[in-house]
Amino acid sequence: MSRPFDLLVRNAGTLFTADGPDGGNAEQLLAPIPRGAVGIHDAHVAWIGAEGDLPREGIAPSTKVLDAGEGLVAPGFVDAHTHLVWAGDRSHEFALRCAGADYLSIAGAGGGIASTVRAVREASDDSLLSLALPRLRRLLAQGVTTAEVKSGYGLDAETELRMLRVIELLGTRQPIRLVRTFLWLHAMPPGSTDRPAFLTRGRNVLHEIARAGLARFADAFVEEGAFSPDEVRPFLEEARTLGLGLKLHVDQLSSGQGAELAASLRAISADHLESVSAAGIAALAEARVTAVLIPTATLVLRLARYAPGRALVDAGVRVAIATNCNPGSAPTENLALALSLACLHNGLTPAEALLGVTRRGGEALGDTSLGRLRVGGPADLVVLGAPDVDHLVAHVGISHVQAVVRAGRTVLRSDNAARC
Ligand code: NIG
Repeated sequence: MSRPFDLLVRNAGTLFTADGPDGGNAEQLLAPIPRGAVGIHDAHVAWIGAEGDLPREGIAPSTKVLDAGEGLVAPGFVDAHTHLVWAGDRSHEFALRCAGADYLSIAGAGGGIASTVRAVREASDDSLLSLALPRLRRLLAQGVTTAEVKSGYGLDAETELRMLRVIELLGTRQPIRLVRTFLWLHAMPPGSTDRPAFLTRGRNVLHEIARAGLARFADAFVEEGAFSPDEVRPFLEEARTLGLGLKLHVDQLSSGQGAELAASLRAISADHLESVSAAGIAALAEARVTAVLIPTATLVLRLARYAPGRALVDAGVRVAIATNCNPGSAPTENLALALSLACLHNGLTPAEALLGVTRRGGEALGDTSLGRLRVGGPADLVVLGAPDVDHLVAHVGISHVQAVVRAGRTVLRSDNAARC
């Protein structure tokens, strides 16, 4: 470290690097540094440690200082599962579910994913962009510096490609880093019943997307009413040979051996998992597939059970937490609520929940530089107006985010000293 920092984040009550050595428990992996500080240079972490050890040469008149006010400093949050580009409004589905309707019956009556597909096909790129930007602003206010965003509301070649390009453009219009996922196998398109033809078309589009570098992951919804393991396997295997990582929506509404499928495909992540079996949990652990839990969707869909987060962690599975921001099953950007639900209903400890939106979120995107603070890594971090991790989750659904730094720039300041 020979040059002064561009930005110094100091006066943290506790700084979590989330970069402890593999194999530890959540507290060890979070690697807390009491009275920690971070020095940033050129969008990267240049120094990290206890404030008392700050190198003199790091501080110059040109160095900007972000005072953490004795709150928490953590890696910028990673929301590893969203569908945040959409048009249309499905709020009436919420009311239908409150009256007792379930997700599949609403979809069977023409609502659900198909209704969003119709709205997205009719929307212009500009309108998709302007609808998504406020959602991203709300995610940023939750401390999110990286979000995965799926296509899956086009379900024809033209609209799927358009969605991925809109996501690419969104990545240049606001601070959150966006990771794109191609979700062809989300649902059968409205009015279409020829499943083999749809699967074949998907494989052609996959080649176009891989050629254009438009997606990092391919995804599929494995569920009764969506697609079977036999239908998705050839598509996903082909995606892998084209260099895309794999993600799957599995075991959400029913147990369909989805986790076992994700493990056998060596997917990067298996998402949802409310109905995962004991064999599925063991398979995920063995294949080192990251589980992404989405308790906001479990809540909104009023499902009978939450994913067994405790059993997953105890079996050695890495567990991430995401919002799933989408117009139907999780119309929310509230990651703070997801963290609280992960503790209340998935059985995670507060430390495991924080790990789930930092280091584990990065692992769910196959990128171990994300969701951690380490020298040379991206200077993405969040300052939280809370004295400890228990406060983060106990103040249910309330964001404690006071500042967000993305690529070394302070991109958000707020006065959220949300102490209970
Ligand atoms: O992750 N499960 C499938 N896909 C979404 C729901 C999308 C929608 O209902 O529009 C999910 O929950």
